[in-house]
Amino acid sequence: MSEIRPSLLAADFADLAGAVAAAERGGADTLHCDVMDGHFVPNITFGALVVAAVHARTALPLDVHLMVEAPERWLRGFQAAGASVITVHVEATRHPQRALAEIRRLGCRAGLALNPATPPDALDYLWGEFDEVLLMTVNPGFGGQRFLPAVLHKVAAVSAAANKVGFAVSIVVDGGVDEETAPQAAAAGATAFVAGSAVFGAKDPAAAIRKLRAAAQAH
Ligand code: DX5
Ligand code: ZN
Repeated sequence: MSEIRPSLLAADFADLAGAVAAAERGGADTLHCDVMDGHFVPNITFGALVVAAVHARTALPLDVHLMVEAPERWLRGFQAAGASVITVHVEATRHPQRALAEIRRLGCRAGLALNPATPPDALDYLWGEFDEVLLMTVNPGFGGQRFLPAVLHKVAAVSAAANKVGFAVSIVVDGGVDEETAPQAAAAGATAFVAGSAVFGAKDPAAAIRKLRAAAQAH
């Protein structure tokens, strides 16, 4: 099963409702919301108020990707805004286990994100504490960057490790995912695909979602 998660980062921020409607038409599984604080990454996007406004327009689950320092400060706020999944970066928190446990306590799926150069053994003593691993396939901060093929080895390593330890986790790839790279990531073991430019940069975002799904499933 491949899950397609359009990233609103590449949408027209002045017409988020239009982007949400297009994602629904295309059969998106989840909407990916990129929250950036200007510290953990060199860019600023939006916070819980915008996530709540999107939530009010759709029944689709929202996956909130926190690219912020000390994300534990904001978990409750994003849960209240309607997040179904909250993902924190292992590089951004001193106490990842505590943050993940708090996300679950709030009733959300807990995600742990790894930057491209963070080795997969960052997960070693955290298995069982998260529902999703998000592997960045670009350096976080901006949409429209090129997929880093070196991360494919990490996708395969995480997929193998998940099988070995016996925990069912979603393996999410994020960054530069398109019709060409999605099948490569799927072949390595990715199960969920975040795509910004490939969806909202397309003339017909709904059709782009369907094409991405077909590509991810055809690997
Ligand atoms: C990057 C974000 C991604 C971004 C992907 O820091 O985490 O979710 O939206 O955009 P594309 O698909 O354009 O690489
Ligand atoms: Zn993201």
